[in-house]
Amino acid sequence: MHQKLSRPSSLNRRQFLRLTGLGVLGLMAGSLLKTPAARASTPTLPGLSSTFTPDVELALTAEPGQVSILPGQPTTVWRYRAEVLSGPADTVQPIPDTYLGPILRFKPGQKVRVRFTNRLSEETIVHWHGLHVPEAADGHPRLAIAPGETYIYEYEIMDRPGMYWYHPHPHGRTGPQAYMGLAGLIIISDESEQALGLPSGDRDLPLVIQDRQFDANNQLIYSTPMAGFLGDRILVNGRPELIQTVEPATYRLRILNGSNARIYKLAWPDNTPFTVIGTDGGLLDAPVQRPYITLGPAERIDLLVDFSRWAGQTLSLRSLAFSGGGFMGGGGALPNGAAFDVLRFQVSEDAATPMPYKTFVPLMSGPVAAARRADRAWVQADRTFQLYMQFGQWTINGRTFQMEAVAPDEIVKLGTEEVWEFVNQQPGGGGGGMGGGMPHPMHIHGLQFQVVGRQPPTNTQQRANWETVKDGYVDDGWKDTILLMAGERVQVRLRFEDFTGLYLYHCHNLEHEDMGMMRNYKIVA
Ligand code: C2O
Ligand code: CU
Ligand code: CU
Repeated sequence: MHQKLSRPSSLNRRQFLRLTGLGVLGLMAGSLLKTPAARASTPTLPGLSSTFTPDVELALTAEPGQVSILPGQPTTVWRYRAEVLSGPADTVQPIPDTYLGPILRFKPGQKVRVRFTNRLSEETIVHWHGLHVPEAADGHPRLAIAPGETYIYEYEIMDRPGMYWYHPHPHGRTGPQAYMGLAGLIIISDESEQALGLPSGDRDLPLVIQDRQFDANNQLIYSTPMAGFLGDRILVNGRPELIQTVEPATYRLRILNGSNARIYKLAWPDNTPFTVIGTDGGLLDAPVQRPYITLGPAERIDLLVDFSRWAGQTLSLRSLAFSGGGFMGGGGALPNGAAFDVLRFQVSEDAATPMPYKTFVPLMSGPVAAARRADRAWVQADRTFQLYMQFGQWTINGRTFQMEAVAPDEIVKLGTEEVWEFVNQQPGGGGGGMGGGMPHPMHIHGLQFQVVGRQPPTNTQQRANWETVKDGYVDDGWKDTILLMAGERVQVRLRFEDFTGLYLYHCHNLEHEDMGMMRNYKIVA
């Protein structure tokens, strides 16, 4: 059951909590639902059950803290902390010496309860990015809780093995809160994945790439330029200039672009191609190769890297230069599209343990395989969403976010499948008023989709920009976020299953999102 549901007509939930004086303990699951009034106020919420018995129960807090990032003074950050209240102790895996939240490890079918407490000085709410969860567990900004309050999430893990993540989602404040450090990984795994014999343990390396700016006292600097905020220092797993020691063996690198606005064009210095085994929503049915990887904010990529070719060497994972990254960036010294080192790998001469891994083809059968065989022909889309600037604001079809608003063309039917088309173009064509437009990483809540296809920009300059990133797109498998360069059109196929309710779709450039480049869509029965 979920306490923060729809607002009872005469009393909103915050008032209700205040009146009843409910603290963490008062919010025992079921305590609100058992009252007839509360039940009456939440008649349409799916996935809601007073008989929910969690397999794992966590306490999660968002709170201020201090962490040493640069030499000298520690940096004030905000971070998630989690604790297992019941269930497998290894559900929570803290990462030492970082502001990043612990890795949450779940299994498909697990029933999860999270008691989230806000210990910040402003309202917040947690969103489980990529997970297929009921409306009440999705972390919509209208569900944000005030400092001191607790929100209880209950959901079943219905997603494929893969890497997802959690981060705040309050109205207008997602960018700064995530930037201050509020983000963590979710890794879903099961026996079927483990049976594939992929690199595991120390050789399964999650990497969160983010950019930050620090002042002379090592404190975080943040602002909200129209292009989105860019830092001039690259942090991996919360650390600058990370040097990761590895053995000359095959590793699984799972990378999240956890940056607010920066796009990465990842490459090896000797142009060794990447073997991609998964994307946002889990493993592909077979690996694909890319010369480099284009990774927009919130996207994930799952790679197999054979470090034996670099035995005894130190090498950098680079982000290569590209064009079309945007305009008026806050990155000053490091614009979106600049080249830089992301982190260094120090490869030892010999492996302590030899490589036990087989060939990983085919990776998986079943739904993922079906996804790749799906029809990729460009179709007449069911809905089109045009991304453009209007009256100095980023919009979707000329609209900006309103807390509860859903337009008639944003209502979809449960149990149906649709093709949505995103068009990153100023209406009337052309490059757009603002220096040729901007990339927008579009994200849809509540589901994973398949990419039907892309159409390149027709504008010459935009086309030239697109050429500098297009070979790094991985549109295979399941995705929840897709990057559109200026001038691009993308079609995605989605299926609305299991849950009705209000979900979001938005640009995951967090400053764009906070400035209103976000809308609700509603799934109705
Ligand atoms: Cu990763 Cu609406 O968010
Ligand atoms: Cu999301
Ligand atoms: Cu955007």
